[in-house]
Amino acid sequence: MNFWHGKQIIIGLGGGIAAYKTLEVIRRLREAGATIIPVPTVAALQFVTPLTLQALCGAPVRDALFSPLEPDGMDHIRLARQADLVIIAPATADLLARMAQGQADDLLTTLLLARHGPVLVAPAMNPAMWDHPATRRNVTILQEDGLLFTGPETGSMACGETGSGRMAEPATILEAARRALTPKILQGRRILITAGPTREELDPVRFISNHSSGKMGWEVALAALRAGAQVELIHGPVALPPPLGATTHAVDSACAMLAATLNCWLDQPGCDAAILTAAVADYRPATRQTDKIKKGDVARELTLELTPNPDILAMLSAWSGVRTRNGQQRVIVGFAAETGNALVRGREKLARKGCDLLAINDVSAPGCGFGADTNAVTLIGRDGRTADWPLLPKEQVAERLITTVAEFIAHPPPSNR
Ligand code: CTP
Repeated sequence: MNFWHGKQIIIGLGGGIAAYKTLEVIRRLREAGATIIPVPTVAALQFVTPLTLQALCGAPVRDALFSPLEPDGMDHIRLARQADLVIIAPATADLLARMAQGQADDLLTTLLLARHGPVLVAPAMNPAMWDHPATRRNVTILQEDGLLFTGPETGSMACGETGSGRMAEPATILEAARRALTPKILQGRRILITAGPTREELDPVRFISNHSSGKMGWEVALAALRAGAQVELIHGPVALPPPLGATTHAVDSACAMLAATLNCWLDQPGCDAAILTAAVADYRPATRQTDKIKKGDVARELTLELTPNPDILAMLSAWSGVRTRNGQQRVIVGFAAETGNALVRGREKLARKGCDLLAINDVSAPGCGFGADTNAVTLIGRDGRTADWPLLPKEQVAERLITTVAEFIAHPPPSNR
């Protein structure tokens, strides 16, 4: 099921021009199935009208601390308790100050005082106001109180100045909100992920590659980040924006991917798991021509001589001397793209490569494969486990895989090495 389906989110709006971006956050959350309760401050209603909020949220605006429509006058307590998440966007300097002081002079600040669950804050203000010692103090206080922050970002501001103070973009706020609600099963863990295709150059203008989009690896990286892990994402050429918070290492060829992977695997503090989703080219041209190959320079038929690339997954798995971190087994996960007879071929591949877990998918099956947003995976393990997952969005495949990896790290099966 969609992550946001059935979630109840309070959106608290402060009085800033960035409130127009909050409308987009509301729209996207509603589209994803969340219920939104808009709680604007009086100042926020200078920037967006109650009618706009009501129409977008499909719910009445809550802005009165003392409403005759509430028979018991306990709206702030009820609102504070029932919501899964409170997002304050935009959080102006004034609103941050009132929150840090624990003031309760309107509905929004009052419900924040009554709240026990997660609160995510997206500040937006002029750079000088953001840098002011008073604002810095208030942010520190709120962080110490356990509130989560996203942004502000650096860039040009509505006031014409440039600096830090621009509210985080809607997509960033949504991702931060999702992280605020995801259990931290990989907190303190460092996870290495490879993703995308590799490119093997023939000459300065041509290369051999494959159709991998990198989507599966990206979703695995996002799922690991949401679970609290530090992520090292080593990827070939892809057209995807870097996942928020991941350390990315862009590489081209299989040999460059191997070098970057070994660097992360062998460095200090090391990684707890490697999840290798990359579609590494199995071969590269035996020689890379320094000048462009011209039609006139070769016979009518051009024959390419190819040489095998190193197998990154097999190398990591075979390296028994570095299979532990802080005395704990490190987990190595491979992905197998097969066309037909997937389970038999997958089992053979798991044995040949020596990894702990192998996620097999039949790329010829409908809804699976390169560029698709869904995948049907069978997960097999060295310990004999087999799990058949139905056709799922890649996001949910990644989430299940991350849960399995976290369990594996916490409780390595006895049969494992
Ligand atoms: N892999 C790797 N290095 C390679 C080739 C593959 O690390 N040179 C990893 C992939 O990232 C994936 C797994 O091995 O996790 C299986 O990849 P796949 O392409 O299915 O396997 P191959 O070894 O290439 O076998 P084949 O093409 O014969 O199916």
